[in-house]
Amino acid sequence: IQHRIHQEIDLVVGRNRLPRLADKTELAFTSATLLEVQRLASIAPLGVPHFCGEGTTIGPYTIPKGSIVLPNLWAIHHDPDLWVNPDEFNPERFLDEDGELQEKEELIPFSIGRRVCIGDNLAKMELYIFFTHLLHQFTFKKPDDSPPPSLQGDSGLSYSPKPFLVEFVVRD
Ligand code: HEM
Repeated sequence: IQHRIHQEIDLVVGRNRLPRLADKTELAFTSATLLEVQRLASIAPLGVPHFCGEGTTIGPYTIPKGSIVLPNLWAIHHDPDLWVNPDEFNPERFLDEDGELQEKEELIPFSIGRRVCIGDNLAKMELYIFFTHLLHQFTFKKPDDSPPPSLQGDSGLSYSPKPFLVEFVVRD
């Protein structure tokens, strides 16, 4: 996957300048990889707690006034009814048959509705710029004498990776 991203960035951006936001539409595989990272990692797994101001019913469920409601975004992102092999890291799921980026409404890392993350557009730009600049400049490797990074994280308000070792190799 990293090799494919390097190829795409080198083809679209070249080696003489850094990636820009304007390149994004042409970096379909790179963008799909970022979406897949957000799905699999689900860094805000339970969104933000909300208070139910009025009692309501949703399908068979009665939600009493005063309930605290937590959306399980992690479960949506790992639901086998929505994603083929949900535990597999596969950016292709965000590409159509022509290799164009295909966003999916089931991917909701910033939640949905009136209280959707207010910083979502800024966050998407930051993720894209940090990721493409790093991949433009470096190859990431697991050091030979270290174990692979754990795919289990530490839970809190955000779901964070456990410490791991990575080698940055400068690209030509
Ligand atoms: C990858 C980065 C980020 C993720 C995954 C994320 C995710 C979320 C989620 C899931 C919520 C809860 C939405 C809800 O209550 O239904 C939220 C709320 C919020 N986020 Fe983010 N966020 C990110 C970055 C940012 C940034 C960069 C900012 C500010 C510049 C920001 C500001 C906020 C604020 C102010 C709220 C509360 C909105 C409200 O209650 O009306 N977030 N975020």
